[in-house]
Amino acid sequence: MNIKPFDQAVSLACNALAGLRDSPAGSLPRASRASLERLVSAKAAPAVAAASRSKAERLAALHAEMSHCTNCPHLVKNRSNIVFGVGNPQARLMFVGEAPGSDEDLQGEPFVGKAGQLLTKIIEVMGFQRTDVYLANVLKCRPDMPPGEGDNRKPTPGEMATCLPYLIRQIEIIEPQCLVALGATAMEGLLGKPVVMREARGHWHTFQGLPLMATYHPAYLLHKPSLSEKRKVWEDMLLVLERLGEPISTRQRGFFLPK
Ligand code: URA
Repeated sequence: MNIKPFDQAVSLACNALAGLRDSPAGSLPRASRASLERLVSAKAAPAVAAASRSKAERLAALHAEMSHCTNCPHLVKNRSNIVFGVGNPQARLMFVGEAPGSDEDLQGEPFVGKAGQLLTKIIEVMGFQRTDVYLANVLKCRPDMPPGEGDNRKPTPGEMATCLPYLIRQIEIIEPQCLVALGATAMEGLLGKPVVMREARGHWHTFQGLPLMATYHPAYLLHKPSLSEKRKVWEDMLLVLERLGEPISTRQRGFFLPK
């Protein structure tokens, strides 16, 4: 590889500045910091700006950029809010749903309705808080409904494909250790092809080089709250906990088993 000395210097300066980001102002003479910054801004300002901003700042910038999105004019017309995502910008675990429902559209936050409350319980039983993980959808706007119809509709493959690059950028910023897709539509949105959940769940798939677990959507459990279906989702979450290297108690291992 042929690295030019100037590029090498820029790269070293970038690393040095990234390392200095959280260090006290006085830890390097002001003049030295300024020369590093001058060197970097000469060549690689955009890359360095991204590298030296925190994940929270980068997510906020993406959110601001998205708020002007008009890629799906029919959704823009009907949305109350873009539902960007919520949680820990440093999350090791990221849940991906299909699209906001009416509660999410009104509040601008994913998974706040009944299915979301069940998801929050699942997250807590796993030993996390909702604020430890990151929650987002493939589609960031609520799928529009004919006037007078309040229910939800499945996002189309075209809508999901249009919005997917935003989710990919969220994943690139957060860098979670693994992803969980909630339901067949989320899986279809991620992989770009329909899946049979009965076959896909409980197995590791790959998305953007990251391990992706498929499990049932919490709304499915609300419709079918049998012990056996809850156990299936729970077994999927046990696989996720194992992958993350989280401790699992004997009590946790036994949840939703028939007595
Ligand atoms: N269902 C989803 O897939 N996402 C939400 O945000 C809420 C319900």
